[in-house]
Amino acid sequence: MDIADFRKEYTRGGLSRREVPDDPSLLFGRWLEEAIVAELPEPNAMLLATASVECRPSARTVLLKGFEDGKFLFFTNYESRKGRQIAGNPHVSLSFVWLPLERQVHVEGTAAPLPAVESDAYFDSRPYGSRIGALVSPQSRVIPSRHELVRRFDEAFDAYRHRPLLRPSCWGGYAVTPQRYEFWQGRENRLHDRILYVLQSDGDWRIERLAP
Ligand SMILES: Cc1cc2nc3c(=O)[nH]c(=O)nc-3n(C[C@H](O)[C@H](O)[C@H](O)COP(=O)(O)O)c2cc1C
Repeated sequence: MDIADFRKEYTRGGLSRREVPDDPSLLFGRWLEEAIVAELPEPNAMLLATASVECRPSARTVLLKGFEDGKFLFFTNYESRKGRQIAGNPHVSLSFVWLPLERQVHVEGTAAPLPAVESDAYFDSRPYGSRIGALVSPQSRVIPSRHELVRRFDEAFDAYRHRPLLRPSCWGGYAVTPQRYEFWQGRENRLHDRILYVLQSDGDWRIERLAP
């Protein structure tokens, strides 16, 4: 099998400059909805890229847990690798890839921690096992063994059964405020549609077409 021979024509649709709304959050909301309706696996999964203060990038998948007032919300451990990178450099990118729809969306913006009450509310909504998991996992740190992690989980699982389980301060949400969106729709002969939105100083979005 030669992966160089894998080829697919993209024929599902197009994206015209005249049809797109002035506000990119409307188009994003529509595309996310279509990915959900199409029953794609984990339609809210997104690749979050961060960069260290030395400008070294890293990326990983996280789940979009809210899209409110044009901001993208996700939850994680503030002391994880990504959390430490965001603390030093808030510029991030988010990428959604919906392959069966032949679509991708790239977003660039800045991440800021959510207010504690919002992180508390989301933490409290999670299943008990997930909350215990967040409590006992020092995300991104080296641990001695899986066995040790499971031992800590089991211990905390029993210990918190009958007492309040508060959100650990090292765990919570971020809101990403976008400054740039790119919507990509696959087309025939690799002449894909790419519509770029860039936020202007007056709050309007400049809209342009990019070469594929
Ligand atoms: C489908 C999927 C969803 C994930 N969702 C999250 C998430 O919402 N939050 C999170 O912290 N990690 C999530 N992860 C794990 C991250 O990809 C990553 O392994 C972890 O956050 C540690 O990243 P870091 O060491 O770069 O900080 C998810 C992984 C996958 C594959």
